[in-house]
Amino acid sequence: MKYKDKIKGLFKEEIFFEDKLILLSNSSTFDNQNQTNDTFTEKWKELDKKVDGEEYNFESYQKKWFLELYGFSSEKELGNFLKGKIIIDAGCGLGYKSNWFASLAPDSLVIGIDFSNSVILASKKYKNVENLYFVQGDIAETKIKLNSINLVICDQVIMHTENPDLTFNHLSNLLTPDGQFCCYVYSKKALPRELLDDYFRNETHKLTNDQIWELSEQLTELGKRLQELNVKINSPEIPLLGIKAGEYDIQRFIYWNFIKCFFNEELGKETSIATNFDWYSPSNAKRFSESEFIEMINNNHLEIEYFHIEEACYSGRFKKI
Ligand SMILES: C[S@@+](CC[C@H](N)C(=O)[O-])C[C@H]1O[C@@H](n2cnc3c(N)ncnc32)[C@H](O)[C@@H]1O
Repeated sequence: MKYKDKIKGLFKEEIFFEDKLILLSNSSTFDNQNQTNDTFTEKWKELDKKVDGEEYNFESYQKKWFLELYGFSSEKELGNFLKGKIIIDAGCGLGYKSNWFASLAPDSLVIGIDFSNSVILASKKYKNVENLYFVQGDIAETKIKLNSINLVICDQVIMHTENPDLTFNHLSNLLTPDGQFCCYVYSKKALPRELLDDYFRNETHKLTNDQIWELSEQLTELGKRLQELNVKINSPEIPLLGIKAGEYDIQRFIYWNFIKCFFNEELGKETSIATNFDWYSPSNAKRFSESEFIEMINNNHLEIEYFHIEEACYSGRFKKI
């Protein structure tokens, strides 16, 4: 009960609880956002059904990665950072990370928000976690009061929103004066890969979910077979195509420069297929250059506390100034 009153105070409008779920708005006015929501509803439903046995690997892989993405040396350090905060997990998907945050810091309040139906599953699965609630709604317009959230976590999400710059601005405005923001964006890749990715974003509307699952299975198989070759290539620099010089495993070389054909033995086949589906299905999937990301951070009066660069993404922890 103590949390319900606190949550009511955070919202600009009257809210109602259905157990641990708060329903605000169910749809966007944008076709691409609605398509993106539907594909994630589909992904989470399938992943929830299929991963049996792979779920643990997927979650522990993601948690370990989260620590790297946002500069925490251990779960303990993350727990200390989360302590006593009001936290939103913006675009929480199945909510396992929201649950992780709530469990690492039992004196915090965590609200997971997602536009897809995943939050309905999450609110049931984690109903016994006292300091954890879920909201179905748009992270670009959360209906949460400005200056009320100590920490916004938006992990692997913002590029799927209709206008990532506006979403980032909205989420920054929710922060209290000393509030912090953990955010991740996709990076721009080599030109052939970008062109193919853009082509698929546009084509997605014409394909059924079954067709995209089928494509994802085929690409997973391609990735697996390329990995099994165990061949390295020493590529020249090709600046006009954005291809960097260096020695690559052949699967990685094709993956970064031409086509996403994800396969990870440790994660398992079904999770790899879902990862490919996740890439090819949503219409909204903006990629940023490093300078575009930094400009967005600066424009929203945030300073960088930690910045992380990977081949596929940029991420970091930013503080309101
Ligand atoms: C790749 S998943 C990441 C999920 C989770 N953060 C994680 O790291 O496991 C992206 C999620 O963002 C959600 N999403 C995309 N656009 C959204 C929006 N405008 N409002 C709320 N959620 C959104 C999708 O429904 C999906 O669950």
